[in-house]
Amino acid sequence: MSRFTTVIPRKGTRSVKWDYAEELYQDKDILPMWVADMDFQAPQAVIDSLKERVDHGVFGYTMPDEEIKHSITNWIEKRHQWKIQKDWVTYSPGVIPSLHMIVQSLTNTHDGILIQTPVYPPFFSVIKDHERKVVTNSLLYNEGTYSIDFEDFEHQIVEGDVKMFILCNPHNPIGRVWTKDELSKMGEICLKHNVLIVSDEIHADLILDNHKHIPMASMNNELSNQTLTCFSPTKTFNLAGLQASYIVTPCEDKRKKVKKQFDQQGMFMLNTLGLTAMESAYLNGEEWLEELVETIQTNRDFAIEQFQRISDQIQIVPLEGTYLLWMDCRLMNLSQAELKSFMQKQAKVGLNDGVSFGEEGEGFMRMNLAAPREIVEEGVNRIITAVHQKTTS
Ligand SMILES: Cc1ncc(COP(=O)(O)O)c(C=O)c1O
Repeated sequence: MSRFTTVIPRKGTRSVKWDYAEELYQDKDILPMWVADMDFQAPQAVIDSLKERVDHGVFGYTMPDEEIKHSITNWIEKRHQWKIQKDWVTYSPGVIPSLHMIVQSLTNTHDGILIQTPVYPPFFSVIKDHERKVVTNSLLYNEGTYSIDFEDFEHQIVEGDVKMFILCNPHNPIGRVWTKDELSKMGEICLKHNVLIVSDEIHADLILDNHKHIPMASMNNELSNQTLTCFSPTKTFNLAGLQASYIVTPCEDKRKKVKKQFDQQGMFMLNTLGLTAMESAYLNGEEWLEELVETIQTNRDFAIEQFQRISDQIQIVPLEGTYLLWMDCRLMNLSQAELKSFMQKQAKVGLNDGVSFGEEGEGFMRMNLAAPREIVEEGVNRIITAVHQKTTS
């Protein structure tokens, strides 16, 4: 069996997705398809390098050396055709900590910060936690596809006195990989109004079909100077528990301010095993990644085909990037509380509530497809069976 078909029991491993699910969904039989980590083992090379490091047995303070920096700059150039300098990199235990540090160091209390909703829930809290103002540009949803209302984007920047824009590319939860044209329009408006761009590109390596990820900062020199990009190997290679990520900031002044913020919180070091895994994944993980992307595509196509059988009830938003399926359940004619309860109690599948991504997520649910086919089939079938029971009862 391939590494992407083997079901690996995760209960009892302190897994947030599996062990916390029982408490969260109040059901021991719930099938967890929520939080964004995968039910796959990391690349064998990563496991081997971690074993070798563990066998050494000494886990003292650890620093990222030239080889680690090189593995990062190489990966970004090879996968995303963006030539970055090693000095532009600031290490961070995660993208969420990075967002907190960036907001604190580069904006002031009450500043407006723009996000495009529905969006990854911590985008709201990183703004609110520091008493900045959440300004939203709602994404347009028409005939099953999402797009950007650029007029509103600019209007919100002006009206909301926006100083920073947090971009999600590829976008979680709607699964769009923003095109060059879309990035260029957003970038131009931000430059025109001197809005700093923070580009969360944690899903950059999870690109499906013929879509192409373009880092916002790689578009031109002006945007490079205006943008801080958050990358991480943890989403790509399923290493979230090892907590190792980094920010790429070409502008020296912004980079220094963010670094100072990290230092002031005493966060100037990464976890020994996280660094080992990051280097190994970037050096040896490419083949594994290609296989992963194929698996996600096949899981997505399977889910779409199955849900089409009840197409008057659940419609699937096209998935261009990430492994998170955005399900339009509005034709089920349930309130959000009823929809949540239906998925939890009738279908017994643990999904993310659409409204947690903002009010635009009403009537939607998010399903994690990064699991062996057996698990995805079980989840999709549970939902379809429950929908049939609902319609025939
Ligand atoms: C868009 C986005 N940003 C950040 C994160 C979390 O990043 P980290 O675990 O590095 O804090 C996630 C996880 O799902 C995500 O989807």
